[in-house]
Amino acid sequence: MHDIVIISGSPSVDSRSQKVLGYIGDRLNEKGLSIGHISVRDIPGEDLMFGNFNSPEVTGTSEKIRNAKGIIVGSPVYKAAYSGVLKSLFDILPQDIMKDKPVLPVMSGGSISHLLALEYALKPLISTLKGTTLKGVLSGQPD
Ligand SMILES: Cc1cc2nc3c(=O)[nH]c(=O)nc-3n(C[C@H](O)[C@H](O)[C@H](O)COP(=O)(O)O)c2cc1C
Repeated sequence: MHDIVIISGSPSVDSRSQKVLGYIGDRLNEKGLSIGHISVRDIPGEDLMFGNFNSPEVTGTSEKIRNAKGIIVGSPVYKAAYSGVLKSLFDILPQDIMKDKPVLPVMSGGSISHLLALEYALKPLISTLKGTTLKGVLSGQPD
């Protein structure tokens, strides 16, 4: 069981959003919190594609989230929203999996022009899983 579970929604190997998540995780770890990590890259593509709710990776992911005190959800901005693969994972998690948990949304975008993706895309997604969304962070690349 971890104090905080960090969920990375980037399909990229060399992921900018994952670096931001790693930085936040390290700072929290320095404060004495234990950190667990989940990445969409660790879930078999078949589970995500065919909605395998009961696969060991998916149920293990649910358990990690359910046992955490707080969650951080990270995603790149893709087409002014979160990544499709993050949605595929969230689609197969129990609908109340984040109930009563504070959830920090974190996004990285090509610029800050899609800043509202945090408000209009990621926060509502977290709310459907009953998480209590915190203010959030969007990191944009400098022009
Ligand atoms: C398929 C795709 C769609 C993207 N769409 C947007 C977008 O709509 N707005 C934006 O600001 N950046 C967009 N970007 C840029 C990424 O959000 C940005 O490079 C991000 O930091 C990538 O994070 P990652 O390395 O964690 O995947 C897009 C990138 C890709 C690959």
